[in-house]
This record gives sequence, structure tokens and C-alpha cells, in this order.
Amino acid sequence: MYVCVCNAVSDKAIKQAVQQGYDSFEAIQRELAVGTCCGRCKPCAQDLIRQCLEQKPEPLSAFFTPAFA
Ligand code: FES
Repeated sequence: MYVCVCNAVSDKAIKQAVQQGYDSFEAIQRELAVGTCCGRCKPCAQDLIRQCLEQKPEPLSAFFTPAFA
């Protein structure tokens, strides 16, 4: 499904960007150009990014402390 019709940015592309490490609307906007034309998609894109960030699993390193810190 297209989130941003002006720039043909899909929900899948946004989810993939979050998985690749883009962690804010601004970062994803720079990468995918979502919301850079009419701007009507911004609330929907921001909601989707927020949901993706909440669902993103913590990296394994968050559960371990270095042995020689
Ligand atoms: S729908 Fe995204 S900028 Fe117009």
C-alpha cells in the first residue's frame, strides 16, 4: 500500500528503512522523500514509523555487558 502517493513510497519501503536503522521521520524522509511534496502523508508516515520502531527488536548487544569493561 502506498503511504506517500506523490513519491510512490509504500508501507513496505518504510518498514524496510526502519529495519535498516533509520530511526526517525526526518531520516526516512531524507532517504525515501516521503512527505516532501504535498505533505498529506506525513501523519500516516509518522504513525507507521512510530509503530515500526516500537515493534523493532532490541539488538542482542542490549542484553549483554562486555566482560572486560
Ligand atoms: S502524499 Fe506524500 S507528499 Fe504528497
